[in-house]
Amino acid sequence: MSVGRQVNNMKILSIETSCDETSVAILECFGGFKNPRFNILSNVVLSQIDIHKEFGGVVPNLARREHQKNLVPILTQALNESGMLKNYKFQNLNKSKILTLRVITRRVKNSKKIQKILIREPELLEQVLKFLENYEKPPRRGGVDLISVTRGPGLEPALWVGVNFARALSCAWEIPLLGANHLEGHIYSVLLLQNRVISKSKFLISKQILNPQTEDKSQIQNKIPKIQFPAIALVVSGGHTEIVLMNKWLDYKIIGQTLDDAAGEAFDKAARILGLGYPGGPEISREAEKWKSQIINSKQIQNSNNQNQKIVLPRPMINSKDFNFSFSGLKTAVLYLTQNLKKSGKWSENLIPRIAYEFQEAAVDVLVKKSLKAVEKHNVKTFILCGGVSANKELRYRICDILYKKYAKGFNFLMPELEFSGDNAAMIGAAAYSNYSNLKSKNKLPKIAPFLNADGNLNF
Ligand code: KG4
Ligand code: ZN
Repeated sequence: MSVGRQVNNMKILSIETSCDETSVAILECFGGFKNPRFNILSNVVLSQIDIHKEFGGVVPNLARREHQKNLVPILTQALNESGMLKNYKFQNLNKSKILTLRVITRRVKNSKKIQKILIREPELLEQVLKFLENYEKPPRRGGVDLISVTRGPGLEPALWVGVNFARALSCAWEIPLLGANHLEGHIYSVLLLQNRVISKSKFLISKQILNPQTEDKSQIQNKIPKIQFPAIALVVSGGHTEIVLMNKWLDYKIIGQTLDDAAGEAFDKAARILGLGYPGGPEISREAEKWKSQIINSKQIQNSNNQNQKIVLPRPMINSKDFNFSFSGLKTAVLYLTQNLKKSGKWSENLIPRIAYEFQEAAVDVLVKKSLKAVEKHNVKTFILCGGVSANKELRYRICDILYKKYAKGFNFLMPELEFSGDNAAMIGAAAYSNYSNLKSKNKLPKIAPFLNADGNLNF
């Protein structure tokens, strides 16, 4: 997996707790902020979906509680997977030396400061102190050079746990800490390749998505895409739907956004109306697939149209002159449609795949049309699709197909591997690396355990 030591080689330990995934990753980074490259040493993600499912959405205080409970075990696993977990007890020392070491380390370095940092997270504090008593700081050489953490946007109760945890680690290990933007993380997710399991790699340049090929392990690092500017990123997640223009690295201008619900939120709400589970995106997508395969495999479409039950949902703002979106009306249309069908006695569970299909078509139509318009207007060389909704197969295929057909030559189309489309700490580390490299070139280095504000509404 290693590609050898490179210029600017550094290791970043990153933490993500903005919503209902607790994640810690360790990346080896090189190339500088204009040509960032990453080796993923570990990327441990624990989803809390099973806990929030019964409430039909993420409950912020439950998320906070779960992050507190899980951060230390996940950190331990991430360090272990990257070969950096060293238990004091397992060193090749004689018994007396072990005792001395244990006594020294029991007085965890900066423990008073750590207690202050984690004053609002007592359960986490206890685990952190135990961890620091038992495990050594990552080694000076080849260890962690920087810690990074998502400071927003997201659910503030959840963000604070990650931020305070990161500050505590930074303080104990005396390693600098840099806050990261979750949305920027989603954009950087397209530069992450899961080079541990090459055979399953779905390298995401348009040609290959249409004609998938098996990757050669030695080639994978060379395949990490280069972003050429100007670039447009469509960030579609549970909380955001934004079209972002990038004229250079770390330069973001929002040129379009949702005026009400985010795309992922609309998928979640529509799924709930249809009695499907949470999160709604994958559920809607699965139901839609059922109907799509029926359309392809049988003549049922004709039959159903004959039954005068053609389901049509609106495509809000599809023809508006700007790059903005609105998804709340689409969700309400699903609500009225199901209510009317139920009132008139025409409702049947068999309609769910058809409604899900039409909902997905409507959402994808709008996202594709606005994206293409933005690409055309700004003479773009790279298009980036990212955020949780970028896992949607139909959306991936449709944007890819249209851009590939229109701009086959010299155009980059990038989207994350499915593993990195949802929230994960690896993308946070990737974004942090670029920001760190940029700061470093300006001689402004991050500090140890700086005060860091979690900001639920942080934007670019
Ligand atoms: O980026 P993300 O993991 O978390 C936020 O930052 O919000 O995005 C989560 C959103 C959820 O609304 C979820 O329903 C949606 O991404 N999502 C999908 C799919 N997989 C996840 N939406 C449509 N189709 C999918 N396959
Ligand atoms: Zn996200």
